[in-house]
Amino acid sequence: MARSLELYLLACDPYLSALFPEREAEARAALEMLSSVSFVIISGAYFDAKTLESQALLSILEEELAAGDLSMLLQKVLDITTRTFQASMGALLLREAESSSLKVSSSVGLHVKLPEDFRIAIGSGFAGKIAASGEPGMVLDTSAEGGMFTPIIRTGAKSLWGVPLKANGQSIGVLVIGFHKPYEWLPAERELMRAIGDRTALAIERARMTDALRQREQKIAELSAHLLRVQEEERKRISRELHDETGQALMVIRLYLGMMESGITKRNARGKIRETVEVVDRTIEGIRRIIGKLSPLVLQELGLIAAIRKEAKGLAKTTGVKTRVLITHEVGRLAPGTEQAIYRVVQEALHNVAKHAQARNVSVQITREEQKVQVVVEDDGIGIQTRGSSHDRSFGLAGIKERIAMLGGVARVISAKGKGTRIEITVPAGEPAPSVEHPPARAAAHAAARPN
Ligand SMILES: Nc1ncnc2c1ncn2[C@@H]1O[C@H](COP(=O)(O)OP(=O)(O)OP(=O)(O)O)[C@@H](O)[C@H]1O
Ligand SMILES: [Mg+2]
Repeated sequence: MARSLELYLLACDPYLSALFPEREAEARAALEMLSSVSFVIISGAYFDAKTLESQALLSILEEELAAGDLSMLLQKVLDITTRTFQASMGALLLREAESSSLKVSSSVGLHVKLPEDFRIAIGSGFAGKIAASGEPGMVLDTSAEGGMFTPIIRTGAKSLWGVPLKANGQSIGVLVIGFHKPYEWLPAERELMRAIGDRTALAIERARMTDALRQREQKIAELSAHLLRVQEEERKRISRELHDETGQALMVIRLYLGMMESGITKRNARGKIRETVEVVDRTIEGIRRIIGKLSPLVLQELGLIAAIRKEAKGLAKTTGVKTRVLITHEVGRLAPGTEQAIYRVVQEALHNVAKHAQARNVSVQITREEQKVQVVVEDDGIGIQTRGSSHDRSFGLAGIKERIAMLGGVARVISAKGKGTRIEITVPAGEPAPSVEHPPARAAAHAAARPN
């Protein structure tokens, strides 16, 4: 622009002395002044247009990031576009999956409600043609173009501007805005509309992908919650069977052996029976341990604190790791699901200490603040080593996170090489189950499974 003003001045120069022989200097000054003023005004207008353009694009980008879902995003894009061009109406039409028609997904300034089944075939009508060609389109006077527009559009707008929404070279929709008066676009406006269309198409694709991912994630979370419940049920069933069937049978065998032992006088035979009784006792003890792990009766009977102390004691006994359990008395009883999850988390964390940590000390701390329970299991071992392929097949830590997320809590694993591992979870305490007396039959059966 500066160059064209310069050329203009150069072109005028030879005529100045002829036209204004007496006041040539004044005429030259006036011309220069005119040139500077034009420069300032045109640059200002150019700057304003650019500012408007960047503002529109920036606000679409912001909305894209902030929009909760696709429909909200579409509405925002329409608001911004109609505001930017001071249009009286706007509509966003999207191509329906696996079809060759466009559906109005969002609109502003359309005072008549479109019928639910209103569709525009790609290739026909104003929007349909833009979608088919992939090029912007403009109609100056809708009333002059008769059959191309429905009466709703014809009464709603005199001029229409439209751009395709293109993603990966394909038209996924059309953005249309309309004006009450005939209004032709400038090349810059057409380019800005096109840029908005491109930006919107990208945002729509991204929002669709995020929506699909969100749905998938939710499905996976539901599935793993279901699997965890099924696993817990299955463990309970197996433990019940072991307890009621195998445990009882072993008790009967033990009883008969005892009776035989007292009735037999031969020393050799008595010795063999004693040995057999000892094997049966050890088997009963082993089965009790399995039952305890599968479905911690102690959790139901004595509560979380006793169950966790028992786990910690077991770890100390089998590995020699020094264990410390600190559970403040405010913790009290929690919702059964919460107690079970905490128990399983501590169980997995302690198993990991035994399996991987090479720790000397481990502590389990449970505290409660109002409705929030915090559990921390911390060891002073080697820490979680950098991720390797074996982690892909490890489910313990992932299971911890899943269980806790199911209850609306959060789980964090903090670990550094050589600096031990700390697992922190926070879960809502929930409502404890009303205390019920154990039915005598179950209590008796449980007692029976214990060796003397
Ligand atoms: N306390 C710990 N100290 C050191 N490394 C640990 C500790 N806990 C976990 N790890 C590391 O993190 C990995 C993942 O643990 P995770 O419990 O998920 O799986 P896993 O114990 O290997 O298998 P499983 O699925 O049977 O639990 C482990 O393989 C181990 O390398
Ligand atoms: Mg593990």
